[in-house]
Amino acid sequence: MKRHASTALAALCAVALLLCATTAFAKPILIKFSHVVAENTPKGLMANKFRELVEQRMGDKVVVEVYPNSQLFGDDKVLEAMLLGDVQLAAPALSKFESYTKVLQIYDLPFLFKDMGAVEKFQQGPNGQKMLHSMEDKGVLGLGYLHNGLKQLSSSDPLRVPADAVGKKFRIMASDVLAAQFEALQAIPLKKPFSEVFTLLQTKAIDGQENTWSNIYSKKFYEVQPYITESNHGLLDYLVVTSAEFWNGLPDDVRAELKKCLDEAIAFGNKIAGDKDDEDKKKIADSGRSKIIELTPEQREQWVEAMKPVWKQFEGQVGTDNLEAAIASNK
Ligand code: LMR
Repeated sequence: MKRHASTALAALCAVALLLCATTAFAKPILIKFSHVVAENTPKGLMANKFRELVEQRMGDKVVVEVYPNSQLFGDDKVLEAMLLGDVQLAAPALSKFESYTKVLQIYDLPFLFKDMGAVEKFQQGPNGQKMLHSMEDKGVLGLGYLHNGLKQLSSSDPLRVPADAVGKKFRIMASDVLAAQFEALQAIPLKKPFSEVFTLLQTKAIDGQENTWSNIYSKKFYEVQPYITESNHGLLDYLVVTSAEFWNGLPDDVRAELKKCLDEAIAFGNKIAGDKDDEDKKKIADSGRSKIIELTPEQREQWVEAMKPVWKQFEGQVGTDNLEAAIASNK
């Protein structure tokens, strides 16, 4: 009897030891978060915040590695890499999903949202929320929207009215809506990766580009662009995405805790996006390297008139109900 008891005890100890060893040496889950912007931008700061929160709350189970500045992948490759399991999280601009879904193209329509409040209202409403699921059939899950801000037009010559853009070459993100927008101005759009923009501008291979104040500042575009027109003509926001295979394969408790960390990091990023916009605009103005052109209401109206026909061109693809909901979010 005594011998049986001690054998059972020894077996129990062995199981306990084995369990301890497995837990102690279990490899944490690795999440690589790849993005293309600088760290001191809404997306860069959001990604770093997410890494910090995960480290604090679940550092024994999950490790997040953030790769900024296109170090790991450019946005032209990152979704493919995510589906292959080489990256687990990314947050490309909403403009960069058109080979996966057409509905997100709505965010590229020029002069659609009057301000970031309207953008937020639309994204959090039923139409915006449904779009998070628009790529699930391709294995891509939308986990949340992240703000950057409204885009400005930078150029080597002053742009005050649409006629100033005729025949000029502009770098755009890989989006047919953005191509149509510049074609409507009789300008020449060129789809190029973000990592190439500075050199293209510096070498004068292109005349201008469109981006937010934080990207124009952090990537030093203002040092090689003497004019920036404060046009606020379009939106540059992001979708934080993961692959369905990776996300659904996580243990339930890990997935739930990671989603909490992500939601908090996104809320943090969204909160600072507006301030960064103002701060970086001011830094550019103070540098004296680039003249900021403010449009008169009449000049602005000319840009609206020139670009707005693009809506009709893409209404079928983005969906009339989505377009109506987006317009209604301005009220
Ligand atoms: C761009 O390519 O201009 C932007 O998408 C970069 C970014 O991610 O903000």
